[in-house]
Amino acid sequence: MVRITYVEPSGTARTIDVPEGWSLMQGATANGVAGIVAECGGSCACATCHCYVDEARLADLPVASDTEVAMLDFVAAERRQTSRLSCQIRATGALEGLVVRLPETQD
Ligand code: FES
Repeated sequence: MVRITYVEPSGTARTIDVPEGWSLMQGATANGVAGIVAECGGSCACATCHCYVDEARLADLPVASDTEVAMLDFVAAERRQTSRLSCQIRATGALEGLVVRLPETQD
């Protein structure tokens, strides 16, 4: 398990043990975290699983694929340097304790 803290749009923080290998999107949707829609189910085709990762942990994350970078053009909320698609980030030990913030809107 990898402990991930999701900060919902309301500001509520939810700390969840996400099974290793699951995406951060799956960890959120399986636990009813507010703020992720995930319309495409994790195919990197909808951009409704947008999240902001902790800037201090950016180096711990795998580099975004070209497809993810292209899809980030379609996020509904402000795109920032820390924007990622949560369906494209797998829970691994390197992400233990990661904090991700969910945007005000996904559509
Ligand atoms: Fe659709 Fe992540 S769930 S892009």
